[in-house]
Amino acid sequence: MMTLSPAGLAYESGFGNEFATEALPGALPVGQNSPQRCPYGLYAEQLSGTAFTAPRGANRRSWLYRIRPAAMHRPFERIPSERITSDFGQVATPPNQLRWNPLPLPDAPTDFLDGLIAMAGNGDPHAQLGCGIYLYAANRSMEDRFFYSGDGELLIVPQQGRLRLATELGVLEIEPLEIAVIPRGVRMRVELIDAAAKGYVCENFGVPLRLPDRGPIGANGLANPRDFLTPVAHYEDREGDFELVAKFMGNLWSARIDHSPLDVVAWHGNYAPYKYDLRRFNTIGSISFDHPDPSIFLVLQSPSDTPGVDAIDFVIFPPRILAMEHTFRPPWFHRNVASEFMGLVVGAYDAKAEGFLPGGASLHNSMSGHGPDAESFARASSADTTQVERIRDTMAFMFETRCVIRPTRFALETSQLQAEYYRCWQGLAKRFDPQRPGG
Ligand SMILES: [Fe+2]
Repeated sequence: MMTLSPAGLAYESGFGNEFATEALPGALPVGQNSPQRCPYGLYAEQLSGTAFTAPRGANRRSWLYRIRPAAMHRPFERIPSERITSDFGQVATPPNQLRWNPLPLPDAPTDFLDGLIAMAGNGDPHAQLGCGIYLYAANRSMEDRFFYSGDGELLIVPQQGRLRLATELGVLEIEPLEIAVIPRGVRMRVELIDAAAKGYVCENFGVPLRLPDRGPIGANGLANPRDFLTPVAHYEDREGDFELVAKFMGNLWSARIDHSPLDVVAWHGNYAPYKYDLRRFNTIGSISFDHPDPSIFLVLQSPSDTPGVDAIDFVIFPPRILAMEHTFRPPWFHRNVASEFMGLVVGAYDAKAEGFLPGGASLHNSMSGHGPDAESFARASSADTTQVERIRDTMAFMFETRCVIRPTRFALETSQLQAEYYRCWQGLAKRFDPQRPGG
């Protein structure tokens, strides 16, 4: 189903669908992927996102019909970068709870790519396992340059400012409370619609993100496939002196290119960028007592080779109604084998009274104890749970991973790191009283 945004952008809805779209009538060959001569003098090119032999339900590839093949550019040369890395063994990973203030906006002209900084990650793009986690802060559009990651797909979570993502397969516009996913290898130019932009990126080295199975939840709920939007074909026929930047094996590489690589006139397939409005998430929770594990808030997952164990879960904590009786309603104290990198798009998170700010981040690694701060504990322990509580105007999220998330040197040395974070639990009083079995 074609959807038109208020900005006039056209999208097709559905998750993982076989889309077919053309910016010129008849540009898409009919009944054949690689005819001897393509319409309009276009070149046919396949873009594979999974092994050719992946099972049908997991197989992702698209056929692109473009003005010039993607092979046409000058050789890449490495760009030394202090900001981009996929080496997560730079510094020893502490078991401490970590939290960061938001990045400041840059003073100098800074585009999305220059404003991207690696905070943490795990695994290795070489092994196609794990992820890199970045923050970005930018104040100008990318001009005459294009970017792709050969290391992983990019899950972009804007926190401030709208982005226009001009990709090979079409144009996406996203705003805070929406997300976009750009598949591994897809070239794009990131433009700012507003004066400044900040947000988060998870670069997934592993299996492409997918919608989770719902099990006993049934056929509906959580993130519904029809709310995922993929752009229709849109092309640029531009020549000039441009730069193509690749992220490859943890490094940035630069090549000259004499034309816009966003020259795909038509494409079909299921390997394509998409966006999703987090406000459409159908939030499900307990209506009796206790609360489910946060997997109930799972939007997208990247499975691992172990059944039931995801390499990456993208989880959100959206506005919701808390109705559980005689229950401590915020997330309880916990230690998990999984590791949790959290961000906040807007509002406040119900387990923390202060210090976790929109645009900020926290990291609670495998087996590191954490949970509500003393103030949140006191408030929730005495709340009247015969009354429902409405949590409004908030959107926290989590990149939860199977492997330990290892901060970069920047993340551990930046002045944004809150050295006093541990204090938020120090005020929890000893409440034990052997004479008071009633609690
Ligand atoms: Fe947690």
